[in-house]
Amino acid sequence: MTSPSPSQRIFDRLWHDYTLYNPEVKRIYDSFTETGEKVINDHIAFRTFNDPRVNIDVLSRPFIRSGYVLKGTYTFEKKHLFARHFEDESSVDAPRVFISELILEEFSEFTQKTAKQVIDQIPRDLLTSDELIYSGNVWGKPSFEIYEKLRTESEYAAWVYVYGFCANHFTVSVNGLKNLNTLEKVNDFLKAKGFLLNTAEGEIKGTPQELLEQSSTRAGIIEVEFSEGRFSIPSCYYEFARRYPDRDGRLYSGFIAKSADKIFESTDFYRK
Ligand code: NI
Repeated sequence: MTSPSPSQRIFDRLWHDYTLYNPEVKRIYDSFTETGEKVINDHIAFRTFNDPRVNIDVLSRPFIRSGYVLKGTYTFEKKHLFARHFEDESSVDAPRVFISELILEEFSEFTQKTAKQVIDQIPRDLLTSDELIYSGNVWGKPSFEIYEKLRTESEYAAWVYVYGFCANHFTVSVNGLKNLNTLEKVNDFLKAKGFLLNTAEGEIKGTPQELLEQSSTRAGIIEVEFSEGRFSIPSCYYEFARRYPDRDGRLYSGFIAKSADKIFESTDFYRK
């Protein structure tokens, strides 16, 4: 038995909010545990803007304070994203934390202005508080018109505009599962239970040669209150990752830009 990591309280709280945004993930979690599997998180992911008030440096602070260290840096050119991942080396079961930020200067004036406007509305003391990562949308009721307009440029920007700061996804470690120990088995298990997978470029992204395979569910659809009324839009998704040992026999711990590009599209199936 390993003792719970000091960050466990953070993850419990993030998980609670995450299951509210997408109740399906709790049903998936329960399906695993009902078959006797123990669910360990491979990583959790956040989305944000690269504005220095809310960027990766800011969102990573509570994790750094609880012992996490920077382990990897990534650029997703097509999606105009920069990302870092952090690990708690003191606990084998502690999830990696993956935080990406949208490179705003590579977008239109409209997207840049919208991001700035919402960030301007965040109370100043929240920006320096560890509470920021749980605060969700702190800029009030979004506009559906703005949401739709952001989507034409970046689904990611539109998602952050509506949901703000919360876990975008949790990821089950397939290496930690006893019987459902391949992604094929996990995917078949989920499909048999009626859950929908993200199929952009196949169900499984990455290969054993790349040392990381991932799949994910499609984001749940929830009704969100916009200033123009209620609309059903994608929320969060659940991800599954299987890692392979490298030449030295150590389990690969990073993230692969090419396949993560496709995973980002798990919230992008909704099109007008
Ligand atoms: Ni992920």
